[in-house]
Amino acid sequence: MAEPLREELQVQHRTAVLVAVPDGEPSLPKDRILDELKGLVKTAGVTVVGEIVQLRGKPHPGTCLGKGKLDELVDLVNATGAELVIFDNNLSPSQGRHLEQATKRIIVDRSELILDIFATHARTFEARLQVELAQLQYTRTRLKRMWTHLERIDGGIGASRGPGEKQIEIDRRLIDVRISELKQRIKEIEVRRERMVRQRTDHALVSLVGYTNAGKSTLMNALTSSDVYVADQLFATLDTRTRRWTLPGWGDVLLSDTVGFVRDLPHSLVASFKSTLEEARQADLLLHVVDASNPEAEQQVATVEQVLEEIGVEIHDFVLVLNKVDAVEDREIVDMLRAKYASSVTVSAKTGKGLDQLASIVADRLANGFADVDIETSVGNGKLFAWLAEHAEVIDRTYLEDRVSLHTRLPRKLLWQVRGDDVSVQERINGAFSTPAIH
Ligand code: GTP
Repeated sequence: MAEPLREELQVQHRTAVLVAVPDGEPSLPKDRILDELKGLVKTAGVTVVGEIVQLRGKPHPGTCLGKGKLDELVDLVNATGAELVIFDNNLSPSQGRHLEQATKRIIVDRSELILDIFATHARTFEARLQVELAQLQYTRTRLKRMWTHLERIDGGIGASRGPGEKQIEIDRRLIDVRISELKQRIKEIEVRRERMVRQRTDHALVSLVGYTNAGKSTLMNALTSSDVYVADQLFATLDTRTRRWTLPGWGDVLLSDTVGFVRDLPHSLVASFKSTLEEARQADLLLHVVDASNPEAEQQVATVEQVLEEIGVEIHDFVLVLNKVDAVEDREIVDMLRAKYASSVTVSAKTGKGLDQLASIVADRLANGFADVDIETSVGNGKLFAWLAEHAEVIDRTYLEDRVSLHTRLPRKLLWQVRGDDVSVQERINGAFSTPAIH
């Protein structure tokens, strides 16, 4: 395996000035524009020593900040001794280069910061591969800037490995080799995982999705009495975890927690996390968890929907879970979201409020997608038993001489597959048999 080309740019334990230049009319008041970036840098372990927000309608094409504000930034980094300048914007390679030349500091844009956080939080082998791929794809086009980083951080890299065009070309080729190696490995994992998730159909699969810090892990703990890692940090969960959740009146379902989303996720990252989100893609029902106490809740809902669409998750079957109602100050956002989404419920994962109602909504929704079915066949019908083992939940079985009667629950969309000369099928409606029989 090729060696990584350089140590990752570590932002942890460094000091930084934060900068935001909103593109268009900002939805937040000026003093709150940097709130989310502050959350991100806190998670990344950076100490903030200064802030600049410029409202100029459009970021400057060459330097993001306008001339006057750029001078202000240079003064600020010099006065504070900041090691980094972190932008809430995504910068073009040339904007990054100009800013580095002007400030003589390492410039980190929003995508680089998110990638850095993901790199620090990736725990499993799979997540590490995905993050490495995303980082390489992002930095490939920014090699020139990388070299200037290296010279400054490491005190020069020696004449023999000068940052000439030739060296950059060699590095780019090495990166390409590593990228295709990573893609191949991730593909293999993807195929394996897809098969694994598909095979796990003995129970309905419910998946939690949502903006980072919405409270997905806390909700998962509250519902399943497990202890998934919860932190007041962004992206505490990078890997999907699945637990058993017992729904009153329904039985057991599998509940999985997934990676949180955030505005402007780097594209390469979204693509490489597809397989981690396999549970969400194959879920029978999605629970979209929202931090209802956040003034940006509506935009966050939109971001999550957009990312889900990008990775090919069907979003028509979901329940909007408005979490943190205990901390809501502005009821208007909650009322607006409830009016907009027919299927929604307000809960507090912290206090337990609304969780019973959530469970009964989920049970109802699943009931629509599943059929409660009695199947009678001969005891020798191995083919049917194998099919049921893979696709259905067998609740009960009764033997009568050489016949067996099975009470099962299976996805309604697969009902048509249960057939054969030797098979009779009847659906139970509210626990009783329906007539006529299905076939
Ligand atoms: P990511 O891992 O970033 O995707 O976050 P997450 O959505 O899993 O959020 P997590 O469960 O880690 O919770 C984030 C923070 O919100 C923690 O500090 C929780 O204690 C807090 N939190 C979660 N649910 C509630 C709630 O109902 N009320 C209040 N007040 N805080 C909550």
